[in-house]
Amino acid sequence: MLDIAVAKPALPKSGALVLLLAEGSSPDSPTGAVWKAADEATGGAISRALSVAEFTGKKGQSAAILAPGASLSRVIAIGIGPLDKADGTSLEAAGGIACAALAKEPAASIATSGLSPELAASVALGAVLRAYRFDRYRTKEAAEDKPKLAKLTLLADAPAKVKSAWAPLKGVAEGVFVARDLVSEPPNVLNPAEMTRRIQALSALGLKIEVLGPKDMKKLGFGALLGVAQGSTQDAFTVIMHWTGAPADKQPPLCFVGKGVTFDTGGISIKPAGGMEDMKWDMGGSGTVVGLMAALAGRKAKCNAIGIVGLVENMPDGNAQRPGDVVTTYSGQTVEVINTDAEGRLVLADIMWYAQEKYNPRFMIDLATLTGAMIIALGHEMAGFFSNNDVLSDQLVAAAKATGEGVWRLPLGEAYDKQIKSDIADMKNVGGRPGGSITAAQFIQRFVNNKPWIHLDIAGVAWSGKDTATIPKGATAYGVRLLDRLVADNFES
Ligand code: BES
Ligand code: MN
Ligand code: ZN
Repeated sequence: MLDIAVAKPALPKSGALVLLLAEGSSPDSPTGAVWKAADEATGGAISRALSVAEFTGKKGQSAAILAPGASLSRVIAIGIGPLDKADGTSLEAAGGIACAALAKEPAASIATSGLSPELAASVALGAVLRAYRFDRYRTKEAAEDKPKLAKLTLLADAPAKVKSAWAPLKGVAEGVFVARDLVSEPPNVLNPAEMTRRIQALSALGLKIEVLGPKDMKKLGFGALLGVAQGSTQDAFTVIMHWTGAPADKQPPLCFVGKGVTFDTGGISIKPAGGMEDMKWDMGGSGTVVGLMAALAGRKAKCNAIGIVGLVENMPDGNAQRPGDVVTTYSGQTVEVINTDAEGRLVLADIMWYAQEKYNPRFMIDLATLTGAMIIALGHEMAGFFSNNDVLSDQLVAAAKATGEGVWRLPLGEAYDKQIKSDIADMKNVGGRPGGSITAAQFIQRFVNNKPWIHLDIAGVAWSGKDTATIPKGATAYGVRLLDRLVADNFES
């Protein structure tokens, strides 16, 4: 992780300097303190360059000034818009944009004078999140092509306060990286057993890890999950992570459930070849749950939470389940498997019922890259969600606003539920093309047993095809920050 230091505002003696400038600010404004010092040291070069660049401090505007004097290698000005409108997400974006612009600099300082300690910490979070790279499998990249930035010093009015605001955010960033690492791994490496081992390694953070192997699940009767796994040579696992951050709290735990299909070929209802490699990130829901649990542990959240993930590979094989098979779920309900590519809901069915029965949670939130239809509905900008509880839904929407991880609620209803009626079993696993994300949610709701529940379909947001301010192209870890925030704002003692 990019190293973050905090120091009093002063002109750095060398290296790069980033100025975060509010709209209409000047060297004499509260945010202009370091700008003023840089101007004084360079005979006004910074202000002259910014005026030539017609820099006004509009949000998202940026200007780079190379070798302006005073041993500074470069000064980068980033507009943050009107100061009274600056918030966490806009400062994170500024930090991310700064980080991208600093790729060639080994170390840099970033002036946050005039910003609250919380907003200064948001700048650090944005920079750290953007600096993420998944580098494991590159053996030939030239040194000059690698980003050099290793250390970022925040210049802040109240360094101690910024440090304490940064500490929990650092824990969250580490959780985001846990999720991004898992989701980025290729599917030959990250099979269910390997993912299980990686989760077990998180016990170092203070998480207690329980593993159910194939025999345990067979004994319990996880017929739906094991039906998906039976076409693969890889064993399936269910992994349960426990975080006890409020031992005295006698309330039931919060519960997060993740779909963990480490590769989804579709099974016998096989997918077309084009783009099938994307299905390595069909464990994105479980990646987020694991990252979230790491974040809660990393920042020592004052709550008790459980993360549960169902890890399987969906392959076609002589032993694979067939369209037409009927499986018996852990809940006792039977499912006619019409399409073996609608496997995520089968995995969730068993682990959701198990989580409720075993842990009696206060609420249950499941995450899954569940339906292509969700990408058609909302694109790559927001996740769709479904819920049986308006209070929890409103809390989720507020957390989405605060973190920038967008959500949009979609409907549930009896008419949609009818679409998954089977002629020979309690339900079938697909409901036809109309409302495909909704009928998937209806299926999942049949495994909700009177608990406040949210289903987040993250098919469109788990992976990004392009760089954004705080998320490099690739695994987004969508949901780690959203749910961390939901917990922090509503469920900590
Ligand atoms: N993992 C896919 C959904 C998906 C598709 C996620 C594209 C991300 C990108 C899921 O298992 C699936 O195959 N769903 C089917 C359901 C259908 C058979 C009812 C789909 O969406 O086509
Ligand atoms: Mn599928
Ligand atoms: Zn899938």
